Amino acid sequence: MTLLIRVSKQLQRQSFKNPLLYRLLSESSALRKGPESKEECTWLYGSSQEILSLVRGHVEVRQNFISEEEENALFKEVETALRKKRYEFDHWDDAIHGYRETERLQWGVTCESVLRRVRAVAFPEGSPLLGPIHVLDLDKEGYIKPHIDSVKFCGSTIAGLSLLSESVMRLVPENKSTDWVDLLLSRRSLYILRDEARFKFTHEILKEEESFFSGQKVPRHRRISVICRNLPV
Ligand code: OGA
Ligand code: MN
Repeated sequence: MTLLIRVSKQLQRQSFKNPLLYRLLSESSALRKGPESKEECTWLYGSSQEILSLVRGHVEVRQNFISEEEENALFKEVETALRKKRYEFDHWDDAIHGYRETERLQWGVTCESVLRRVRAVAFPEGSPLLGPIHVLDLDKEGYIKPHIDSVKFCGSTIAGLSLLSESVMRLVPENKSTDWVDLLLSRRSLYILRDEARFKFTHEILKEEESFFSGQKVPRHRRISVICRNLPV
């Protein structure tokens, strides 16, 4: 599955010291739509208002998208397959460090109903989906380097559930690597990257030492993501 992604040419990490930080205001009219509008500003943070307006409508984090019971059911279903594998740490050129992964096509009743909900909120109706669901298990020390998912194999939308740990996903525009947008991926949340945010920005999951959101430490534990993708049209 790591074949599906390509590491950004800009692996060079910029210095993020003393950036001008802007938080999206909850009063922002663009965010007033939808039942979760009050909460939205708590998960989005960026280097400028301009960059935030570029991703607005193309990124979404739905906190508490799944219940603890559903998280448990998903965990149980993927853990057996994951435990048979070892975390990969050694390949310096891998886009992902400290991970193991699996794919799953058939799910039990509880998990299937969660996935149905993910599909319903994340993907355009009728959009053909990648059959198997990608399950990525990041060790506490694991992280994902900046990359863009392959446009050959994946379509306009990426939707991921976060199990076991919160983390920070950073988006950086491909053509302007001094700008950035951080998404706080709380435990049991669903994130969705669409169109511009998926094609024009690299995404990454920050490593423990760099895992801060809006100046606040976001402790990293083992984290499992369950990722749904659609097919290119
Ligand atoms: C990937 C990826 C993000 C996540 O596997 O391409 O970006 O939430 N994963 O694990
Ligand atoms: Mn990716």
